[in-house]
Amino acid sequence: MEASSRFLNTELIDRHKAGLNGQLVEKDKDNLFKSITENLVMNNATLVSHYYVDPLIQQITEETNGFIGDSLEMAKFGSNCQTENLIVCGVKFMAETAKILSPQKHIYVPTYESTCSLDLGCPAADLKIMKDKYPERILVVYANTSAEVKAMADWVVTSSIAKEIIEEIHLNDQKILWAPDKYLGSYLQKETGADMLLWDSACVVHEEFKASGLRDLKRLHPDAGILVHPESPSEVISMADAVGSTSHLIKASRDLDFNKFIVATDKSIFYKMAQLSPEKEFFEAPTGGSSSSCKSCAHCPWMGLNSLTNLDECVRTLANEINLNSDLIQQAKIPLDKMISFNV
Ligand code: 13P
Ligand code: SF4
Repeated sequence: MEASSRFLNTELIDRHKAGLNGQLVEKDKDNLFKSITENLVMNNATLVSHYYVDPLIQQITEETNGFIGDSLEMAKFGSNCQTENLIVCGVKFMAETAKILSPQKHIYVPTYESTCSLDLGCPAADLKIMKDKYPERILVVYANTSAEVKAMADWVVTSSIAKEIIEEIHLNDQKILWAPDKYLGSYLQKETGADMLLWDSACVVHEEFKASGLRDLKRLHPDAGILVHPESPSEVISMADAVGSTSHLIKASRDLDFNKFIVATDKSIFYKMAQLSPEKEFFEAPTGGSSSSCKSCAHCPWMGLNSLTNLDECVRTLANEINLNSDLIQQAKIPLDKMISFNV
């Protein structure tokens, strides 16, 4: 079993397979859309969603003038948004980041259960031991981590800005301790030549993309471009026509000169890709499939816990607020502010 798969319990997998929004009939959908729209106005709240949440949540986010983006854009949007309340549809680290960057705002999530295998795979206490062992190294952590982990980091990065920040640190002749995603870490190492010591953790979704299956699918569609999120294994990344954050991949799907794409990231991203290029065809990159350790292939099981129903409840009752203590916010804000103000 791949190390990261230990975070997937059977109950989570079953709920994920059942599909939270899949059972909605049109009437329920219309009622929920109406209720969410009215209560957002009544409660002075805005939806901030990630591209991996259910397309229906992306749709209601657009219809209510909320925001959909990659994790860096979501972080930036929160502090510029006018409403007092933000409802973050994504996973826990995205909501915590919004709270750290805008401590005066109230941040809510449709469910507290939505986390990330990278966050789970990098407990702050364990990382502290590693950090103490290598005091000469700059600690760079991926945004997919807890507030406690961010609080001990020199830098926080997302996939959209990681390469530039690592390059800068490398130019200053500094060595790096990187956590937690080993695949993204090794991609950055190759791209920049930086001296990086890598934490051993992975994303349960991206780790499942398989190079052999991708080669077979490419043989069937030789004219297709390949889009890959850098949390994927290096053999998969090496076949890509574009590698980058979710926003980067969406732009590439619009701008690159292909009419077909094979996409190695969460399949909810197809909603935005198809919206921007309705004439193009999109195929899921092959995964280990149901015979492998991951039964949740090509869709993040934790992103999938956000539903129209729990979103409606959250917007109506302002339930599930994210609270962090003020010392933690102050500490974690330092590397996050550095990332936000880094000029590329
Ligand atoms: P992005 O920063 O590219 O949106 O990715 C976040 C994420 O969790 C990918 O799995
Ligand atoms: Fe975490 Fe992977 Fe889900 Fe992204 S897709 S939130 S990295 S588990």
